[in-house]
Amino acid sequence: MKIVLLGPPGAGKGTQAKFISEKYSIPHISTGDIFRKNIAEKTQLGLKAKSYLDAGKLVPDEVTIDIVKDRLGNEDCKNGFLLDGFPRTVTQAEALDLFLDNKDQKIDTTLLIDVPKESILERMTGRRVCSSCGASYHVKFNPTKVNGKCDICGGDVVQRKDDTEVTVKDRLNIYDEQTQPLIGYYKKQNKLSTINGTGDINEVFKRVKISLEAYLDDNNKN
Ligand code: AP5
Ligand code: MG
Ligand code: ZN
Repeated sequence: MKIVLLGPPGAGKGTQAKFISEKYSIPHISTGDIFRKNIAEKTQLGLKAKSYLDAGKLVPDEVTIDIVKDRLGNEDCKNGFLLDGFPRTVTQAEALDLFLDNKDQKIDTTLLIDVPKESILERMTGRRVCSSCGASYHVKFNPTKVNGKCDICGGDVVQRKDDTEVTVKDRLNIYDEQTQPLIGYYKKQNKLSTINGTGDINEVFKRVKISLEAYLDDNNKN
């Protein structure tokens, strides 16, 4: 399955992506994680991306699109993938469609994780992420078992630099201006499923599964 996860910053895309990737055996591709890894390793891409991420601004389309095309060419994407945080502009979405179309492929479905703005600030300011594998935790809603250490890989769990109140507000504005139009873009293609992203993390995953199973059922019938 080729899936796109949409939703505002802090909606729980990364959290749900880990579950989806495991359950459906498809790689989780997060452009944010790719940028953060490159920043940590001080690669050329990392140096280019750093100022954008720190300020909560979008990395330019031409940089981002090439990275995703490159990643989607990997062997592990042959049977599907889960994109988290990409596309984020209509230009990116069109480039993705064109790239897949050239290979006679297409996005199967898009899941929009819908969370009211009021919840987002609390989720983001309490978020902690693993500096090794990128797993997301929350001091209140999803704490690590051992303080400061990732449950999955034992890596150090830290706060993201762009999770301050001011930057979160800027990121939400950018989402409204540049990413929100993708809802209409995928609706027009009849590929949008909206998932209620409030409530317990496992409850949200149940809703995600219902939506994906419905998609698979429909497709097997046709
Ligand atoms: P990116 O890393 O993609 O950040 P984002 O979209 O802002 O989304 P987040 O990762 O902040 O939120 P999330 O939805 O994954 O939430 P999470 O699961 O962690 O991008 C970062 C930056 O990279 C961008 O600002 C930009 O600079 C650049 N970039 C990336 N992609 C780009 C692109 N395509 N084009 C250009 N630039 C790009 O959950 C949040 C918190 O809530 C966690 O603490 C979690 O534990 C908690 N939580 C999750 N679910 C629940 C729940 N149900 N109840 C309570 N708490 C919950
Ligand atoms: Mg994320
Ligand atoms: Zn980890």
